[in-house]
Amino acid sequence: MALKLKSLSFQSSKVQQYVSNFGSENRRSHRVFMASTLRSSPKEFENLKKPYVPPCEVHVQVTHSMPPQKIEIFKSLEDWAENNILVHLKPVEKCWQPQDFLPDPASDGFHEQVMELRERSKELPDDYFVVLVGDMITEEALPTYQTMLNTLDGVRDETGASLTSWAIWTRAWTAEENRHGDLLNKYLYLCGRVDMKQIEKTIQYLIGSGMDPRTENSPYLGFIYTSFQERATFISHGNTARLAKEHGDIKLAQICGTIAADEKRHETAYTKIVEKLFEIDPDGTVLALADMMKKKISMPAHLMFDGQDDNLFENFSAVAQRLGVYTAKDYADILEFLVGRWNIEKLTGLSGEGHKAQDYVCGLPTRIRRLEERVQGRAKQASAVPFSWVFGKKIMV
Ligand SMILES: [Fe+2]
Ligand SMILES: [Fe+2]
Repeated sequence: MALKLKSLSFQSSKVQQYVSNFGSENRRSHRVFMASTLRSSPKEFENLKKPYVPPCEVHVQVTHSMPPQKIEIFKSLEDWAENNILVHLKPVEKCWQPQDFLPDPASDGFHEQVMELRERSKELPDDYFVVLVGDMITEEALPTYQTMLNTLDGVRDETGASLTSWAIWTRAWTAEENRHGDLLNKYLYLCGRVDMKQIEKTIQYLIGSGMDPRTENSPYLGFIYTSFQERATFISHGNTARLAKEHGDIKLAQICGTIAADEKRHETAYTKIVEKLFEIDPDGTVLALADMMKKKISMPAHLMFDGQDDNLFENFSAVAQRLGVYTAKDYADILEFLVGRWNIEKLTGLSGEGHKAQDYVCGLPTRIRRLEERVQGRAKQASAVPFSWVFGKKIMV
């Protein structure tokens, strides 16, 4: 079985960097180093060889880094969250459902509608489908994201049906998000352009892999991460909508655009939570933002694997970059947007460490862009790789 050895060794070298960058900081309590690297743990390597073990995160995993007393902040924000965050949920009766955009299997016109959908999809190129499939797979790993939210101290759903505002939000957010993967999955199934079994295998691998976005059970880090990610998905679904329109598939453009609008609403909610944290605890929040950005925001589906391609995520990302669906420039733009949204430049009353974090974060978008321009400036060798999702056809990366 092929393993993601390349990314594993990359991760292990990052461990060294991580330890040297952050190991000496003492602002965190309860720092626990749990996982070990490939090299230092032969037993773990043995485990990775087992066929039922999907690609794993192998880096230093840190838990409960937020000082326990800060949990009280989130308890005290219960009413605030009810009045300011839950209002961004849409009542189910007013929500769109995947069926609103798909052929109705109970209607006489079902077959005709399916044929129309398939006709329209013929105009779309294979590289577009690679990106749409990658986006759909990312959405389909939703169990991982609900798990991630429920790792966060002070806001997790303690019972699975907890009545705290935080838990209500997490469940309803998950329920709203669930429609995204559902709709894209059904569209892709009906269009007949992609290898559904390979896609389904990729989803199974990905959910089995889970993810550690390095949010360390801290809602500070967690909500910064979700703010970033909701905006990233808003941008990428917006771009797949634009491209579908350019290729003449207006209905698919409507599908992607509708999903993008949900992501925008979720971005509004998560950025509002972080805005509140900046109001209550500017120092702690700016340190958390700098910490998250130093670690880099990992993409939720970065462990994707189809049983064949050890570099599937990198290859998918390269196609998304080439098509302009999600690019390195977008990463810098998102950070710049958040810096403006949270008024980071105007924060006052910070500690020395807080000031440093403020300067770091404010200067980062420019640094990322400069780096990216240098990378883009280097002549890149054109290459094409096969994607199992489109029946092994070779796609330019
Ligand atoms: Fe989504
Ligand atoms: Fe989302």
